[in-house]
Amino acid sequence: MPSSFKAYPISKHVYWVGAIDWGLREFHGYSTSRGSTYNAYLVIDDKVTLIDTVKKSFEHELMARISSVIDPGKIDYIISNHSEMDHSGSLPSVIRKTRPEKVFASKMGVKALGAHFGSMDVVEAVENGASLSLGSKKLHFLETRMLHWPDSMVSYLEGERLLFSQDAFGMHLATPRLFVDDNNWDVVRFESAKYYANILLPYSQIIPKALEKLQATGWDIGIIASDHGPFWRDDISTIIDLYTQWSIQEPTNKAVIVYDTMWRSTELMAHAIADGIADGGAVPVVLPLSSVSRSDVATEILEAGALLVGSPTINNNIFPSLADTLTYLRGLKPKNLIGAAFGSYGWSGEAQNQLEDYLREMNIEIVSDPLKVNYVPTSENLTECRNLGLSIAEKLS
Ligand code: FEO
Repeated sequence: MPSSFKAYPISKHVYWVGAIDWGLREFHGYSTSRGSTYNAYLVIDDKVTLIDTVKKSFEHELMARISSVIDPGKIDYIISNHSEMDHSGSLPSVIRKTRPEKVFASKMGVKALGAHFGSMDVVEAVENGASLSLGSKKLHFLETRMLHWPDSMVSYLEGERLLFSQDAFGMHLATPRLFVDDNNWDVVRFESAKYYANILLPYSQIIPKALEKLQATGWDIGIIASDHGPFWRDDISTIIDLYTQWSIQEPTNKAVIVYDTMWRSTELMAHAIADGIADGGAVPVVLPLSSVSRSDVATEILEAGALLVGSPTINNNIFPSLADTLTYLRGLKPKNLIGAAFGSYGWSGEAQNQLEDYLREMNIEIVSDPLKVNYVPTSENLTECRNLGLSIAEKLS
């Protein structure tokens, strides 16, 4: 089949041969409003080496881009830095078509690939810290366990100053502009933060140690080429600093209010709380779950100081949208937040205590008893909500 797919050089001996998924809007629960890329790289040396593959449905694009540079049958080695199927889905088929001498993965990567595709004799484990000669160049490997899978590792190509960082430092952003500095910075920063919040946040505890280990290698990194989105070159310290900042989650004066509503009573409460927060000099961000995705909520709380959650009681429970979002957030384990619950009820009123239980499970410091309103808020009720907002602003100042 004719195709216009071609490889793009990113350094002297390395080409980008990945795929652009313009239509991706959902990635295991994460809303990807700008699509994504599955990055793969071809290193031309005595041993022609493919770094990572792509999602199964994009194999044709990967193969076409490789074929624009060399006969894919000339590939000697494949490196699998990460076994999740957006990078390994096409691996078994690429192995069958290219018959490489070896496929290298971390020890845990060998296990994970076996669990996905059955054991393959061609797959061999590389030790943490090992090196592999490709001829004139050397690849070095560093395990980055739990960032974000047990198998994860990064590879560094000496001589070209290239770090292949798999998911780390990536973003879901479909773009043919391969470098960060060729893209809009506000978009890049937002999508990088969104990626961190939705993929890496639960592992924030180990990120500073991983960054230290990376620094201790002494690798002279000129380009960070991740498995999603454009690559970092002039701005490497910017993304490292942002990862350090996001891993610490120093509270800011932003208060995120997440709610759903039945007949607008809980919404009126959310708006009154937001007014109090703003009047108190802090920054409210109001996120109605009727129109905001769980992954955008996660992004907003990454750089916040407070989380307030509101739901009416429905059939003795919280709204399903709150259960969805709070279950997702609980798994992401955000840190250093204060919070409170609020909402309306008709006759039983269990929802607000259930919301508070979620906040406690997330180790959020509860700063007020749940605010409960019977049916429709009175002006006194709204003053109470506004006062809650003022006290939140004061605590964040
Ligand atoms: Fe991009 Fe963890 O896969």
